[in-house]
Amino acid sequence: MLELKQIGLKFLSDEKESTILEGISLTFERGRIYALTGPNGSGKSSLARVIMGIHLPTTGQVIYKGEDITALGIAERARKGIGYAFQHPARFKGLRVTDMMEIAMRRSGNHECWPLLKIGLCPDEYLERPLDASLSGGESKRIEVATLLAQDPDLRIFDEPEAGIDLWSFEQLVEVIGSSHRPNGTTIIISHQEKILNMVDEIILLEDGTVTLRGSQAEIWPQIRESTRCSCRRDCPRGGMPHADCSR
Ligand SMILES: Nc1ncnc2c1ncn2[C@@H]1O[C@H](COP(=O)(O)OP(=O)(O)OP(=O)(O)O)[C@@H](O)[C@H]1O
Ligand SMILES: [Mg+2]
Repeated sequence: MLELKQIGLKFLSDEKESTILEGISLTFERGRIYALTGPNGSGKSSLARVIMGIHLPTTGQVIYKGEDITALGIAERARKGIGYAFQHPARFKGLRVTDMMEIAMRRSGNHECWPLLKIGLCPDEYLERPLDASLSGGESKRIEVATLLAQDPDLRIFDEPEAGIDLWSFEQLVEVIGSSHRPNGTTIIISHQEKILNMVDEIILLEDGTVTLRGSQAEIWPQIRESTRCSCRRDCPRGGMPHADCSR
């Protein structure tokens, strides 16, 4: 379904170049669910943005269904069946939830209430609400997930779908994401949650912009716990403060 070949991503800020992703080569098969995990700042959302066409990679290629889509923009990729639920959903002044559902549903032809009901939001309460800052963080996040379900793309990427979701809705969310996965599609879930890591076919661990581990939950979970135990191994540049003792 998707192949990433030697993906590299660099950003330039204040004339300083920073490497965000380096040498990432991965394949994602049809019919499988993947989890992308790793410490904060390791590059998970950046990689999702490269797949969605929000960032063009500095090096490497993105191959989707056998076609090189590296140079294509977001809209073209969305038309080809790639969808991304943002970690931090955008607010759209002037747009209501019902408008968003209608736009998202163009491809799937589902009823506009369906994704809201799936994600546990009452349509009568939410359809007319504006997609602005009046929505709580959790409501906005749930509408973002509902939008991706409504789009029903072949390749779907959920970026920390559980963030801000209350405990009561979390179980439902995991169930909905799992059951919405189609045998001919591919699902990638960026997550730190053990329950989500438990439900996928394969886990990919990203650290410092590179893939350091890949395998089933049973194979790599113990190593993930070990490798993410100590995140900063450098001393304070102002002196007098050594980094945390990673051996404890
Ligand atoms: N536009 C940008 N310019 C400069 N640096 C950036 C930019 N976008 C992201 N970064 C940096 O790239 C690194 C990776 O960011 P990214 O958002 O991909 O991390 P992440 O793994 O998704 O983290 P989290 O678990 O916190 O969501 C971070 O150090 C971040 O500060
Ligand atoms: Mg992120």
